[in-house]
Amino acid sequence: MFKLVRALLLISVAELLLPCSRADIGAAAHYSPPYLPTACYGGSSARFPTNNLFGAAGEGVWDNGGACGRQYLVRCISAAVPGTCIQGVTIQIKIVDQATTSKSRPSAPNTAFVLSTTAFSAIANLTASSINIEFQEL
Ligand SMILES: *[C@@H]1O[C@H](CO)[C@@H](O)[C@H](O)[C@H]1NC(C)=O
Repeated sequence: MFKLVRALLLISVAELLLPCSRADIGAAAHYSPPYLPTACYGGSSARFPTNNLFGAAGEGVWDNGGACGRQYLVRCISAAVPGTCIQGVTIQIKIVDQATTSKSRPSAPNTAFVLSTTAFSAIANLTASSINIEFQEL
C-alpha cells in the first residue's frame, strides 16, 4: 500500500517537473517590417500581440501551419560576438508567420524562429544576424 502511494507521488512529481524539461536549443534570426501579409493571418494584423513580441516559425517549428498562434518562451544563450545576448531576459512570443515565406526576409536562413525587431532586440543586440536560443512552447 505504501509502495503504491509512493509510486503515485513520484508520478505526480514527474508530471510537475516535465514542463521545465521540454526546453529546446536552436537559433533565431530577425526580420523587419513589412510584416504583412502572413501565412497565418493573411493581410490582417488583428491577431498580432499588441506588444509586438511575435515571430515567424522556421521549418522545424512550423508544423504545417499548426504553429500559428502558438506561444513560446525564448531567451538568448549565446552568439558569435560575445556580449550580444541580454542576460536574464526571457520573452514570450506568438507565431504569426512562416519563416520561409515571410514578406520581409530573415536576417539569417534556416533558423528555428525569425523574431520581430521588437522581440529580437528585447533579448539581444540587433546588430547580430542570428543568435542561439533556448525555447519552450507554452
Ligand atoms: C551592439 O553591437 C554593436 C556592434 O558590435 C556595438 O557597437 C553596440 O555598442 C552594441 N549595442 C549595445 C546596446 O550593446
